[in-house]
Amino acid sequence: MKIEEVKSLLEEDKSKVTDLTSLNDLRVKYLGKKGIITELNSEIKNIPVEEKKEFGQKVNELKSIFNDFYEEKKNYFEEEILNKKLFDEAIDISLPATKIVCGAPNILEKLIEEVEEVFMSMGYDVVDGPEIEEDKYNFELLNIPKGHPARDAQDTFYLEGEEILLRSQTSPMQVRIMLEGNGVTPIRMICPGKTYRRDDDDATHSHQFMQIEGLLVDKDISLSDLKGTIDVIVKKLFGDYIVTRFRPSYYQFTEPSVEVDISCFNCHGKGCNICKKTGWITVAGAGIVHPNVLKMSGYDPKKWSGFAFGFGAERLAMLKYNINDCRVFYNTDLRESRTFDRKED
Ligand code: DAH
Repeated sequence: MKIEEVKSLLEEDKSKVTDLTSLNDLRVKYLGKKGIITELNSEIKNIPVEEKKEFGQKVNELKSIFNDFYEEKKNYFEEEILNKKLFDEAIDISLPATKIVCGAPNILEKLIEEVEEVFMSMGYDVVDGPEIEEDKYNFELLNIPKGHPARDAQDTFYLEGEEILLRSQTSPMQVRIMLEGNGVTPIRMICPGKTYRRDDDDATHSHQFMQIEGLLVDKDISLSDLKGTIDVIVKKLFGDYIVTRFRPSYYQFTEPSVEVDISCFNCHGKGCNICKKTGWITVAGAGIVHPNVLKMSGYDPKKWSGFAFGFGAERLAMLKYNINDCRVFYNTDLRESRTFDRKED
């Protein structure tokens, strides 16, 4: 084929190139092993000497026409592909993001965990016990025999006759743990858990509520040990400036028994709505374990002594998080727990 013919064929072919594939086909057609220009190149050796130079120049010219075209088109198509990709994968940063709704820990659970941590740091075990309980653990072995008026104070749910009930307090765990200790093992335990009483539900009462029981049994334990321990936990929960006081009280399983009050963290003793103008808030019942209780559970009261306490978990949480209705702990509205979660931050 004459060079001039190749030139016009190339011009014609150039106009047919539409993408990278057809461009590469064109390259093969002209510069491949058997390409048109490649073949012209190999013809040089057959050209008479005097025409060689001109022929060579023309072939080179053809080559550079092709190469210029090839480079230009290649860049063009590659850019086109890139632009299309950028367009297809574009992210609209002005679009509103999908809202991720997070849960939050139940505020009561959170409080209990906090209490557990403090007691664990003082060497206490955290134990769990049955909510369906036997009368002997819930009452009898706690020095509350059948027919005793102290039973009336706890409107108990009985499940089967008079022996099986929903525990009305976490105190039966004192008995269970002492029986496990066989009268020889010192005890330090707390037991947070659900308790039940036949109460109507309102802002401050619920038929199901949580207590945090505590028991320490060892040698030479006195009320001051109890007071020191209670002091640690209330300061941790409510602040270092909180003062603890004991008021005489009565429980069948402790002697002496006390009511634990803390100085009001809101008014610092001046009197406000939270402390009902008294400057003090009751947070627990407690006392020195009654010798009968130690004896019935296998601990010799001449050698062993101990203290016990029982906090109302809802009450602690209500005070700490300024909640005025205990029903929020048991509803399933996540918005509530999220609010408390934020309040604490
Ligand atoms: N179990 C008692 C109640 O439900 C609270 C309590 C008082 C627990 C004194 C104790 C204690 O361990 O020593 O009213």
